[in-house]
Amino acid sequence: MISIIAIDGPTASGKGTVAQLVAKVLGFHYLDSGALYRIVGLASLHQQIDLSHHDQLGQMTRRLKIHFDQQRVFLEENDVSEAIRTEEMGQRASAVGAIPQVRQALVELQKSFLALPGLVADGRDMGTVIFPQAQLKVFLTASAHIRAQRRYKQLIAKGISANIDILTQDLLDRDQRDTQRSTAPLIQSEDAYLLDTSDLSIDQAVQKILKWYALVVQQ
Ligand code: C5P
Repeated sequence: MISIIAIDGPTASGKGTVAQLVAKVLGFHYLDSGALYRIVGLASLHQQIDLSHHDQLGQMTRRLKIHFDQQRVFLEENDVSEAIRTEEMGQRASAVGAIPQVRQALVELQKSFLALPGLVADGRDMGTVIFPQAQLKVFLTASAHIRAQRRYKQLIAKGISANIDILTQDLLDRDQRDTQRSTAPLIQSEDAYLLDTSDLSIDQAVQKILKWYALVVQQ
């Protein structure tokens, strides 16, 4: 049996950083499912497909040639690692992520990341829809205020100007859309451990998950 740790939670909760570190410590593979939705957002923009054309978006998604190499992500042969990280692409990812045809088109690709010795999968529906069999499910969150501050610092560190009020509003909009959509909404499943990182360092959050994982594998 291949081990799976599913880490779900809202935007800017620190999931990505924590999930990657957990994967590194355990020597597991890592799936950044948000990157896939961001790529769909980017491709739909390049191909000028209107977001109301759900079937067309689903078909486009099935045809996308996406691959990850080290820390980089490629669409066809183009490195889109930076292009997908903008706020605009985050919003667009959230819009395409509400479309059932797009979600369906990404299911098999996400499942194909499962490989020995194990996988840490990061997203919104990893534990609820894509890997319901995961040995450990974590719902990782932080207050909206803290999440906005973290996003602000990240952007400023990259030399991108940002406004904390606009960022807070954007992430509340994204939370609203991600939790209210009818297909695979962002919710904490009953069997997921809640990890509020508002007052935790990255290392403390990583250690907590590793401790939970050690407990579940012992059972
Ligand atoms: O995690 P990240 O911020 O990169 O995700 C971007 C958007 O993609 C999210 O706001 C969400 O709407 C969508 N997403 C999703 N399901 C996932 C991962 C991301 O709907 N498993």
